[in-house]
Amino acid sequence: MSRQEVISLNEEAAKSLRLGICGLGTVGTGTLDLLRENADEIRYRLGAELEVTRIATRTLEGKKIDNIKHVSTNVFDVINDASIDVVIETIGGYDPALDVIRGALISGKHVVTANKALIAEHGNELFELARENNVALAFESSVAAGIPIIKALREGLAGNKISWLAGIINGTGNFILTEMESKQRQFEEVLKEAQELGYAEADPTFDIEGIDAAHKLSIMGSIAFGIPLQFDKTYTEGISSITPEDLNYANELGYKIKHLGIARRSKNGIEMRVHPTLLSKSRLLANVNGVGNAVLIHGNMVGATLYSGPGAGSAATASAVVADLIDLARHIQSGITSPVYPALGYFEMRNELTIIEIGEIEAEYYLRIPAVDRIGVMAQISGILQEHDVSIEAVIQKEAISETVPIIILTHIVTEKRLDQAIAEIESLADVAGKITRIRVEPFNGEAA
Ligand code: HSE
Repeated sequence: MSRQEVISLNEEAAKSLRLGICGLGTVGTGTLDLLRENADEIRYRLGAELEVTRIATRTLEGKKIDNIKHVSTNVFDVINDASIDVVIETIGGYDPALDVIRGALISGKHVVTANKALIAEHGNELFELARENNVALAFESSVAAGIPIIKALREGLAGNKISWLAGIINGTGNFILTEMESKQRQFEEVLKEAQELGYAEADPTFDIEGIDAAHKLSIMGSIAFGIPLQFDKTYTEGISSITPEDLNYANELGYKIKHLGIARRSKNGIEMRVHPTLLSKSRLLANVNGVGNAVLIHGNMVGATLYSGPGAGSAATASAVVADLIDLARHIQSGITSPVYPALGYFEMRNELTIIEIGEIEAEYYLRIPAVDRIGVMAQISGILQEHDVSIEAVIQKEAISETVPIIILTHIVTEKRLDQAIAEIESLADVAGKITRIRVEPFNGEAA
């Protein structure tokens, strides 16, 4: 076969890339809309078309589906259709999405998914299944929606040894914190609005308790360091215990509270943690508001690089789904009929790198101690901190709230388990009336942005 014949054949294959969409919720509808709206642009980019020939959705009620050859309510119809080249899994959740992806890969179809829960928790198995069946499993839209962060980590920064990354990776959580802080709005009311805007997960506890962010962090961390996906070892704390008082006290001290995912190579091992974090107001990340996401990545050669944009929503997520489709079509056009690259960007996994327990990390901390307003309480607290080698950077005592006065302390760097011992002792004092609020502070020592 001549070179020209091969090229024509491949162009023909790209022209006839047939797509089946499973799930027509926020992301599936956005993808269908984008493919229609930007059809001309895509044709110019690819010299070929991406044609949705089949859609399966749980219910057809209220869905605007025109000019699609086959529509049904059974997602497995898409997998059983031999003419479909790529399955777009936008069902979300675990069941039946996991079986849909498995079935599609086994039947030799490429899969593009936005499903971070499945990639984070079943990715090791699914990538292996894709490799065995010589098909691609693409997942750009699973992290930070419209920001091409997977491609940045896996391709753009591939020449670097990644030292750390830190990001605001849940749009709903950032929207809630921003509205609470800037407009003094109530948590529940803002959450309801985030749900109406299509930002929140079907189960919004995934957003609020940090599970969604932990899914995304474990995906980014694996690509950053070349380690297998280990969602179960990612430390996860949500934003539900953050009070308006903490947001205000942090503000007085020159900080904002953001819900961050942090992955870092430290001297003890790999840190993978999601939790509320105090950030100096002067940091760029501290100024990412609303549904915005941003990820700061530090590579040993390039230094710190920052990626920001809309982290949730229909069109933003669809933008990343279609980027994967175009990527896939280009591979096929180039004659790579089985576009299997190492999905996590490493040919060989770095199994020697282990994730450490949260107690082993070293950080600075914000403490809010509900103390009884009595002489000597401050001396007792500082005595305990001193015994545990916890050095104090700043202390402020606020006006009394009924019987107690909030004492706010910022510490210098300390190992978390040592601080926890001190906290337990302070909480057992007769003059301390309840649980201490403890929030980690991220100074990004010596690093830009
Ligand atoms: N619920 C997610 C968020 C959607 O709020 O970030 C995007 O992954």
